[in-house]
Order: sequence, then structure tokens, then C-alpha cells
Amino acid sequence: MNYVLKLIITSFLLLTIPLMLASCTKKELVFKAVENQPQAFSYLPRTEDGFIDWVTAINSGIIKPRDAIDPKSPPKSPPLNLDIVFYTKTMPNVVYPHYQHTQWLDCSNCHPKIFKAQKGSNGVTMEKIFAGEFCGRCHGTVAFPLQYCNRCHVRPK
Ligand code: HEC
Ligand code: HEC
Ligand code: HEC
Repeated sequence: MNYVLKLIITSFLLLTIPLMLASCTKKELVFKAVENQPQAFSYLPRTEDGFIDWVTAINSGIIKPRDAIDPKSPPKSPPLNLDIVFYTKTMPNVVYPHYQHTQWLDCSNCHPKIFKAQKGSNGVTMEKIFAGEFCGRCHGTVAFPLQYCNRCHVRPK
């Protein structure tokens, strides 16, 4: 079963990675995503890919998200300034920034369900991310999508 699953995921990746790489250069895709955004978002800053740059929006004080929808719920944990580097062989290394995430999210949004809070203990792979696990829980759904390889693979060797 596991073997079959691996085979399916590997062939899926072999097929999709070139397509995704190609789509990185396809600006129409981005414009489509941008066109579909509500007008209320028009005052928000953009990344060079055309996505809303939520991190800059929060840092420049344009938006100030509440800790929770319910004002009675306990306050969110304060931001944590801790970068985690995932060392990779073929791609530039990945830097996972806690700070930018914990400006929005509570520790319990990721720990312990998505990631055990111990570096290197989760068996994170790109295959699993593409399959919607780990970073793929949010990236591609509520955060910038996975075809923007160079936003995660930022650190040259
Ligand atoms: C949301 C963040 C994120 C995005 C976007 C992303 N990756 Fe990754 N990628 C990771 C993480 C985290 C790892 C580390 C997993 C590990 O240790 O192997 C990884 C690992 C990899 C690896 C294994 C690297 C190695 O040599 O050991 C490859 C290949 C890879 N990514 C390709 C891609 C490609 C191609 C894209 C764009 C289509 C992409 N990634 C987009 C987070 C991301
Ligand atoms: C968006 C998801 C996410 C959120 C939210 C998050 N973390 Fe993490 N955390 C990670 C990832 C990813 C790792 C690295 C796991 C790995 O290497 O497999 C990590 C690792 C850690 C580690 C281990 C560091 C080490 O050197 O071993 C600690 C401690 C930690 N987080 C604490 C926190 C605390 C405290 C908060 C809240 C302020 C928090 N995290 C919020 C994703 C998150
Ligand atoms: C619980 C949801 C969640 C998970 C899990 C998650 N992210 Fe994010 N991430 C976000 C959100 C929300 C943002 C801000 C919105 C955006 O930039 O699209 C963000 C932004 C980022 C940014 C941009 C930071 C900046 O300065 O612009 C990077 C890089 C990033 N994530 C990498 C990762 C990597 C690598 C992983 C896995 C190790 C991961 N994220 C897992 C939700 C998540």
C-alpha cells in the first residue's frame, strides 16, 4: 500500500514539477488570481508575483488583525523570532520564519498537530507538502501557493 502510494506521489511530482516551474513564469495565472480578489483588498501591498503581501501589510501597520474572532478567547501567543532552516540538496535551502507566522498564528495552530516543536523531527518532504501536509496545509489554501518555489527556497548554498 505504502509502496503504491509512494509510486503515485512520485509520478504525480514528476508530472507536476515541470508544469509548476513553467507556471512560475506564467503571469496570466497570477493576474487571474489577482482579478478574483475582492475590491476591499485593493489598498493592500502586493508581492512582485501580484499576491497580497500580508506580511508587509501587517509590518507597515496597514492592518492590525485581532487575536481571535471571539473577543472573549484568550490572547494569542506573542510572536517568536526563530528561523528554522531546512537544508536541501538540489534547491536553495528553505528558511521557515516563525516571526512572520506568529504575527498571525498561535503556536497551537501548528504545534503539535502539524509540526512537533522539535527541529528535524517531522519528516517533512516536498512530496508531502505537495500532498497537502506540513507547509502545504496552508500554502496553496490560505497563504501564497506552492508554485512560488523561491519564496520558501530562499537561502543559496
Ligand atoms: C511553502 C514553502 C515551500 C514552497 C513554496 C516550496 N517548497 Fe520545496 N521544500 C520546502 C521544505 C520545507 C523542504 C524541506 C524538506 C526536506 O527537508 O527535504 C522542501 C524541499 C524541497 C526539495 C527537496 C530538496 C533536496 O534537494 O533535498 C525539492 C526538490 C523541492 N523542495 C522543490 C520545490 C519546487 C520545485 C518548488 C516550487 C514548485 C518548491 N519546492 C516550493 C518548502 C517549500
Ligand atoms: C505555521 C506553523 C508554526 C507556528 C504557528 C509555530 N511554529 Fe514552531 N515550528 C514550526 C516548524 C515548521 C518547526 C520546525 C519543525 C521541523 O524542523 O521539523 C518549528 C519548530 C519549533 C521549535 C523547535 C526549535 C528547535 O530548535 O528544535 C520550537 C521550540 C517552536 N517551534 C516553538 C514555537 C512557539 C513557541 C510558537 C508560538 C509562539 C510556534 N513555534 C509557532 C512551525 C510553526
Ligand atoms: C498554519 C498555516 C501555515 C503553515 C503550516 C505554514 N505557513 Fe507559511 N505562511 C502562512 C501565512 C498565513 C502566511 C502569510 C500570508 C502570505 O504571505 O501568503 C505565511 C507566509 C510565509 C512566508 C512569507 C514570509 C514573508 O516574509 O513574506 C514564508 C517564507 C513561509 N510562509 C514559509 C513557510 C514554510 C517553509 C512552511 C513549512 C515549514 C510554512 N510556511 C508553513 C501560513 C502557514
